[in-house]
Amino acid sequence: MSAPRSTSVQLLGDLREVVGPAHVLTGEDLLASYTTDWTGRFAGTAVAVLRPADTAEVAGVLEVAARHGAAVIPQGGNTGLVGGSVPRPGLAGGRPQLVLSTRRLSQLFELDPSSHLLSAGAGTTLAQAAEAAQTAGLHPGIDLAARESATLGGMVATNAGGLHVVRHGPMRARLAGVEAVLADGTVAARLSGLTKDSVGWDLGALLAGSEGTLAVVTRVTVRLEATPVHRVAALVAVDEVSSAVDLVTGPLRRLASLEAAELTLAPGMSLVCESAGLAAPPAAGSARAWLTLEAAADHDPTDELARALADRRVLEAAVAADAAGRARLWAYRERHTEAISRLGIPHKLDVSVRPGRLPALVARLPDAVAKTAPGARLVVFGHVAEGNLHVNVLGPPPEDDAVDDAVLRLVAELGGSISAEHGVGVAKAPWLRLARSGAELEVMRRVKAALDPGRLLNPGVLEPV
Ligand code: FAD
Ligand code: MLT
Ligand code: ZN
Repeated sequence: MSAPRSTSVQLLGDLREVVGPAHVLTGEDLLASYTTDWTGRFAGTAVAVLRPADTAEVAGVLEVAARHGAAVIPQGGNTGLVGGSVPRPGLAGGRPQLVLSTRRLSQLFELDPSSHLLSAGAGTTLAQAAEAAQTAGLHPGIDLAARESATLGGMVATNAGGLHVVRHGPMRARLAGVEAVLADGTVAARLSGLTKDSVGWDLGALLAGSEGTLAVVTRVTVRLEATPVHRVAALVAVDEVSSAVDLVTGPLRRLASLEAAELTLAPGMSLVCESAGLAAPPAAGSARAWLTLEAAADHDPTDELARALADRRVLEAAVAADAAGRARLWAYRERHTEAISRLGIPHKLDVSVRPGRLPALVARLPDAVAKTAPGARLVVFGHVAEGNLHVNVLGPPPEDDAVDDAVLRLVAELGGSISAEHGVGVAKAPWLRLARSGAELEVMRRVKAALDPGRLLNPGVLEPV
């Protein structure tokens, strides 16, 4: 719902004073790319998009918003897949909604090679951070296909995972410090970059996964890793999903050089090949699953990778060590998201179970989907080492969430999580109780009430319905 005209005029006037008229965007055309999410499933209307240049301007925006009773939706690259970065009808209780874009907060503050730290504005993209780190022979230890647009602030807010979690952990583990603005404009920062620091609560840990509901992150310090000298990628066809899981939890897991272990299945492979015009993958026609693997070390890891894959369940493999060859192999995995979205608006369910339960989950998904969404198309892929599957369902209209319910209940029955790495947003809020106890939700409610008593920040996100 939009605000009454008189309120909007005053609100916009006050916001222009804080960020300058050029950085208060209004009008449907200018706002369109900020008010619809990446998937096209979630959209709403905003009074304006604000583009503050620094922390002081972020604080100023929040002060104005609080004074006018406007809701604020923090937004980085808008690549989130759970509807948390865009306005939405009905969730702000009739209050005006403002999108606070962090994209101008892209300063590189510090690159400290001796401590392996990089500190940058929250609107810095992952690709920009990686490029800066590379000048010192380092890398951020986290990588996503959305690297060109996803921002450090968004990755903290969602506790992003991605392709290298098996070796370096999720964003929470990469985080060495944050600066953030609370709903009342208070700026809180812990940027010392110390590895050992046990003085009470950890601000970064509190904000990792908070999805813009507790504060606006304005600066992020990331731990870096040394860039390995050698890198090898492999696309490995296997007979069954269970074989892929056995290999990754067994011989591959023992490889210290293993940096990525990704799972794709036959329906996704066919779709990607057709959509992106890729050649048939190894053992097309006989394989049920493929692993996309990457090993990286200061020695050449090709032989140890080959030894770990010496198994009768491996049907065929393609291997590449040069950058172009590795990119060619990775395309089969990385192009899934865009190939799926080309077919329509998907229901995206990012879930995790213990890796040993992945084969059961994969086996039971078609039935769960067919019962609630007959005729729907199911495309499943994921990060196998963490038992993280991306379940994509095409067919049911965006607002019909029967299939979401069926899949999330199945995952809960298998002891899994309704969100492995994308967050809860508004997409999964109705199922929070499947993943957290009443007592845990009460802790979350109290923390939210203490830091944002007016429910200014991202109302409806990460809140049980
Ligand atoms: P946005 O989409 O803008 O926002 C996401 C959430 O964070 C929202 O709730 C928003 O309010 C909040 N937020 C954003 N910035 C701030 C801030 N500065 N302060 C406070 N709150 C903030 N995710 C993975 O985890 N692993 C993957 O492998 C992966 N691959 C992807 C591949 C593709 C092709 C796409 C499109 C997405 C992928 N994602 C993946 C999802 C997405 O990239 C991540 O969730 C990412 O962390 C979002 O960053 P963003 O800057 O785009 O955040
Ligand atoms: C990925 O791993 O590629 C993603 O998280 C994106 C998706 O789920 O589509
Ligand atoms: Zn993922």
